[in-house]
Amino acid sequence: MADSITITNNRTGETIEIPLVDGTVSARSWSSLLPGIWFDDPSFSATSGADSAITYLDGEAGLLRYRGYPIEQLAEQTTFLEVAHLLVRDKLPTVTQLKAWQSEIAEASPIHENFHKRILEGFRDDAHAMGVLVSSIAAMSTFWPDSKDIENPEQRRDETTRLIAKMPTMAASAHRRSVGLPYVFPDPELDYTSNFLSMMFKLGDSPYEVDPVLRDALDMLFVLHADHEQNCSTTTARVVGSAHADPYVTVAAAAGALYGPRHGGANEAVLRMLEEIAEFDNVDDFIAGVKTGDRKLMGFGHRVYKNYDPRARIVKDTAHRVFDVTGMNPLLDIALKLEEVALADPYFVDRKLYPNIDFYSGLIYQSMGFPVEMFTVLFTIGRTPGWLAHWDEMLSQDSRIARPRQRYTGPADRDVPSIDVR
Ligand code: ACO
Repeated sequence: MADSITITNNRTGETIEIPLVDGTVSARSWSSLLPGIWFDDPSFSATSGADSAITYLDGEAGLLRYRGYPIEQLAEQTTFLEVAHLLVRDKLPTVTQLKAWQSEIAEASPIHENFHKRILEGFRDDAHAMGVLVSSIAAMSTFWPDSKDIENPEQRRDETTRLIAKMPTMAASAHRRSVGLPYVFPDPELDYTSNFLSMMFKLGDSPYEVDPVLRDALDMLFVLHADHEQNCSTTTARVVGSAHADPYVTVAAAAGALYGPRHGGANEAVLRMLEEIAEFDNVDDFIAGVKTGDRKLMGFGHRVYKNYDPRARIVKDTAHRVFDVTGMNPLLDIALKLEEVALADPYFVDRKLYPNIDFYSGLIYQSMGFPVEMFTVLFTIGRTPGWLAHWDEMLSQDSRIARPRQRYTGPADRDVPSIDVR
């Protein structure tokens, strides 16, 4: 059987055969037969927008790999900085490369003092940490004007390092300002995740004692969040980057997309949902409300996973390790019951709705002491190397500006009436 599709334009009788390449047909070949006819796919559900060598995802089988390595092995055997190196520098680092990479990151992690004084201090006291972070990332563009040289691979490499290095510093600062605590400067002696925890939670002059179990769990959560191919925020990064915007505004735009509750904002929404359900006995009523369409079961469902999200399985196992240190999160029982009820209910089974990565992650964050407003900020730290890997990959390819077509549904041609007769 030929690995191709044959289409016929019934208006002209013309036929073309289009080869199938890696499960895709070229829209350009298609368009040559159908000039002026567009594919109607508003949420890109049936559109491949990129050639990418970064992440492989099979949603039916529940598989996820970064550059060929299974997520389960990466979560178990590597640190976040190793995975960041894998994503943005194409390979897992050797011992020497990792040392050099850690030094580069440590060196680039401080942020300009004016940033604290003039930018962070300008927000309202009750500003949401994610709103502060998105704005802060965009503001970095004004501190690094050379970043506009996006066609220079060396410049892209420097900005990538800077963004990965500074993200935890900005994230922790967004938190400290909201709780009225003085900013903590990064400590180059600490590893990436211990340094972040120290900048978040350090009080007074004595060093912050990092619990290794909690540090490793958070580091692994960063690994699990590091990339997820063409999700909403990564697609945003590629679209904005395709206009040759600088990396700071590109990443700010991606973080803006992540903030939405249908995407990375779901971890916060899950926690608020669990708090609202509050009692084990309220689960059945809540599920009934979801089935009538009044509510969504946050942390469930995914555009591409039609099977258990492999990341969610790892997060669920990690939760128990964390609770051994922090004590049980009382909301866990409600989450487990929700999952049990949903996975046995035809509404969820027929729609292939399973827990996604956000269903259990918030419980872990809360137990570690992170306020709910920081949950999506944590996701942002994890996803930053992924966005930047895709941005760099796109710019290394022969990319064109992203510019879809539309199906016009407005009025036909008409004359502007004068203001007194409108
Ligand atoms: N609760 C209840 N019903 C749901 C849910 C949910 N969480 N998710 C999907 N459905 C239903 C839809 O209403 C639809 O039902 P219908 O066929 O009767 O109309 C059916 O399942 C198919 O869903 P779609 O809306 O087509 O799914 P889509 O791929 O467009 O949306 C999304 C995916 C946004 C993730 C959705 O499942 C959702 O809103 N989930 C809750 C938010 C969430 O957890 N987001 C995090 C996703 S993971 C991430 O981004 C990190």
